Amino acid sequence: MSVTQHHAPATAQRWRPRPSTRKAITVVHIAASVALLGEVWGLVVLNLCATLTDDGALAHAAYRLMGVLVFAGGIPLSLISLGSGIALALGSRWGLLRHYWVFAKLLLLIGVILCGMLLFQPEAMTEATRDGSRPSGRQWAQVAVVSGQLTMLLTATALSVFKPRGRIRRRSGRP
Ligand code: HEM
Repeated sequence: MSVTQHHAPATAQRWRPRPSTRKAITVVHIAASVALLGEVWGLVVLNLCATLTDDGALAHAAYRLMGVLVFAGGIPLSLISLGSGIALALGSRWGLLRHYWVFAKLLLLIGVILCGMLLFQPEAMTEATRDGSRPSGRQWAQVAVVSGQLTMLLTATALSVFKPRGRIRRRSGRP
C-alpha cells in the first residue's frame, strides 16, 4: 500500500501582513530587543559594581535595584521581543524554521530567558548581602551569568544584521 504525503512547499507562508503592519511589528521588535540589550548591559554594570565595591551598603542597594530592572524591563522586553520576532518570522519569507539565523536567534533568546529564570538571583543576593556580608564567589557567578546573557544578545544582534545565508534542510518524510 502506498501512502502519498503532501508537503507544504519550502516557501509556504500562511500569514502575509500588510507592509505597514509588518513595519510596525519591526519597530516594536527592534525597540524591545535593543532595549533588552541595554537592560542586560545595565545588569552587567550593576553586578560588577556590587562585586568590586568595598561598600557593603552600595552592593546591597545594587542587588535590590537589579530585581526592579528585571521585573520592569527584562521580563516584559524579552516577551515582546520573542512575540514580535516570531510574528516577523512567520509573516515573512524568512520563516521560523527555514533559515539558521532566525532559528539561532530564537534559541539565543530562549537561552537568555532560561538563564534569567534559573541562574540569575538578585533576590537571593539581596538577602545574602543584607548584613554587609560579601559572598564573592556567588557574586562573580552572577557577573558570569549576565555576561553570558549579554554575549547571546550581541550575537543575536549581529545575526539580525548580517543574516548569514544557510537554510535549514527539511526531511522529505519518505523512507
Ligand atoms: C534575541 C534578541 C533579538 C535581537 C537583539 C533582535 C534584533 C533584531 C534586529 C535589530 C532586527 C532588524 C534587522 C533588519 O531590519 O535588518 C531584527 C529583525 C528580525 N528578527 Fe530579531 N531580534 C531578536 C530576537 C528575535 C527572535 C527570537 C526572532 C524569531 C523567533 C527574531 C526574528 C526576526 C525577524 C524574522 C526579523 C526580520 C528580518 C527582516 O525582515 O529583514 N528576532 N531583529
